[in-house]
Amino acid sequence: MTSELSTAEQAALTSGSDFWHTTAVESAGLPALTVTDGPHGVRMQASEGDLLAGVPATCFPPAVAGASTWDPELLRRMGEALGDECRAMDVAVLLGPGVNLKRSPLGGRNFEYFSEDPILTGVLATEWVRGLQSKGVGASLKHYAVNSQETDRMRVSADVDERTLREMYLRAFHRVVTRAQPWTVMCAYNKVNGVYASEHHWLLTEVLRDEWGFEGLVVSDWGAVVDRVAAVRAGLDLTMPGPDAAGDRALVDAVENGTLEAAALRRSADLVREMIVKAGKREAGAYDAAAHHDLAREIAGRAIVLLKNDGGILPLGGQSLAVIGEFARTPRYQGGGSSQITPTRLDDALTQIQASTSAAVTFASGYDDIPAAVEVARGSDVALVFVGSVHETEGADRESLDLPAEHLALIEQVSAVNPNTVVVLSNGAVLVTSPWEARVPAIVEGWLLGQAGGSAIADVLFGRVNPSGRLAETIPVKLADHPSYLDFPGEHGHVRYGEGLHVGYRGFDAREQAVSYPFGFGLSYTTFSYGTASGDGLEIRVPVTNTGSVDGREVVQVYVSLPGSSVRRAPRELKAFANVAIPAGATTEVVLTVDRADLAYWDVRLGRWIVEDGDYVFEIGASSRDIRATVTRHVDGDAVRVPLTADSSVGEWFADPRGAELLGSLFAEAAAGAGDSTMAAMASDPGMLLMLNSLPLSRMAMFPGSPFSAEALTGLIKAANE
Ligand code: BGC
Repeated sequence: MTSELSTAEQAALTSGSDFWHTTAVESAGLPALTVTDGPHGVRMQASEGDLLAGVPATCFPPAVAGASTWDPELLRRMGEALGDECRAMDVAVLLGPGVNLKRSPLGGRNFEYFSEDPILTGVLATEWVRGLQSKGVGASLKHYAVNSQETDRMRVSADVDERTLREMYLRAFHRVVTRAQPWTVMCAYNKVNGVYASEHHWLLTEVLRDEWGFEGLVVSDWGAVVDRVAAVRAGLDLTMPGPDAAGDRALVDAVENGTLEAAALRRSADLVREMIVKAGKREAGAYDAAAHHDLAREIAGRAIVLLKNDGGILPLGGQSLAVIGEFARTPRYQGGGSSQITPTRLDDALTQIQASTSAAVTFASGYDDIPAAVEVARGSDVALVFVGSVHETEGADRESLDLPAEHLALIEQVSAVNPNTVVVLSNGAVLVTSPWEARVPAIVEGWLLGQAGGSAIADVLFGRVNPSGRLAETIPVKLADHPSYLDFPGEHGHVRYGEGLHVGYRGFDAREQAVSYPFGFGLSYTTFSYGTASGDGLEIRVPVTNTGSVDGREVVQVYVSLPGSSVRRAPRELKAFANVAIPAGATTEVVLTVDRADLAYWDVRLGRWIVEDGDYVFEIGASSRDIRATVTRHVDGDAVRVPLTADSSVGEWFADPRGAELLGSLFAEAAAGAGDSTMAAMASDPGMLLMLNSLPLSRMAMFPGSPFSAEALTGLIKAANE
């Protein structure tokens, strides 16, 4: 396609013309496209000098909140609404969603990411992308890959073993790419196992394109490219921001002197061009700001997680209320950095609470006038204390999971005078509740909820919305319990992903550790009971009854394990979930289907996904630690045969039917013909065999008394693998 473009024009097309635009090539009729952040709103830069101030746009709930809805349909609607706003602002590509796993609760960008679980992340992000792209606007799936920390983010090498990489850190990317084909994938700043993501041929080409069939283009994170030629060679197509005249020239030189294949540059330029042509087809649009605000409110209401509600203190009735804490009046509703949106409106909880009741509402800002807060709390039926994290931003990880000291003091002193104290949290990533939770009867986890968060909080407090949010990340008792604790954030340019597959709840469960609130947890103003699970194969059917007096939503979760697996696995892994509205008193049969491919592990010996044959345990629960029904289903596995070699151990030979037959008869013959002291005789004794199990066959051949020689081994291997 770009064959008619000169090499210089092709190079220019593969870098931006400024911060937010691709390069126009007028001779080829290619206009410049606008790309912008993302992910929970459209951040169209309003003026030249200020990168962060944007044209007003709906600030939807950031991913931390979106994920807590556990509702793919809501995320799709959010994607559609974002698409409409992009069309209204002539944006071709919105830079999101961010699907990196929340490896540590300290991760500075956790508010922009979905979960510690790759399936939950992947399912939700897929719908978000489908929604956005249904409007003719492209997504940018980011940050590919393993960008799970901010400390030294532009240089650090995330050192991860391949199984963990495949099963955990790449899994959500794989799901979204194969099911939604985002127009673009954004490469991360960091290195992965020593190689910059922007120069990682294996990641950008072998995995993303060759294995997954990605059809779009790879764009760099802003400033992630160190070497344009190496990047294009590895499979990176568009470098942002621009202009980058030196890099463009380096590409031309490299093509001319043969160090870069002309086809590589042409392919990248073709992909940029295809995107420009595709984006040109979208229609201009307008959007209804009031309707989008309502949608932001609906999603926010569904994202709130009710952590504690002793004695049913919530929802509120006609009690007099003390509203305490500046966050009630000045909401914390998004994190800092590139995702910061200038909202079209901003609801605060105080105003919305006042509008929701005819009873007395008094306010104290709290953090620096604690005695005044104590006074209003003393004189009210219920004290609502708004506290949370003060700062969360891209570019820096958090230092602790604790509330600021003055917020802790506020909870302590208010709860001392008013036993009906309800804590409302505003935070982009988990905070520990253990130091203070016993002091209060109710805790409302309000995350960062976007511009309508204030009304959403009032909706939940007054029961207009029955809470149904569920934790997409574990709340640990303390930071030191977390699986990532010993290996975060690394040092001297490397961070070792030492906990391997045991990210988040997988690690807590494997070590049978207590947590404050488990993954998947969240209360409701009603209760649900689960009946007996049925179904066939990978389909689970379970009747769920709303046993309370108000309508509600239940999030039914399916966790899978394989006892006796030949590889290390977490005790339970989320493989399916369903979000269902169930009227009071009604029973709904919930149907969940586990995808067979999601049962696979990555086999490092064979370099491929393997579904093991076996009896899988399916646990159906209301959270990862509230299992209501269990079924066992046999799954026929993939045919797997690891070729036997001289380096295979005695144990591995005996584990293979053909190997066992050959080696067994050799041992038997040798034992029959030799004295008791020979190795062959040892091998015929089951007790001794245990000791020999780890011995590679080539090594055994070298021992005196071995039943076969080094030469004979060659024949044995041939016979075994025939
Ligand atoms: C962030 C990206 C963002 C880009 C453009 C980078 O610093 O890591 O997520 O899309 O800037 O603002």
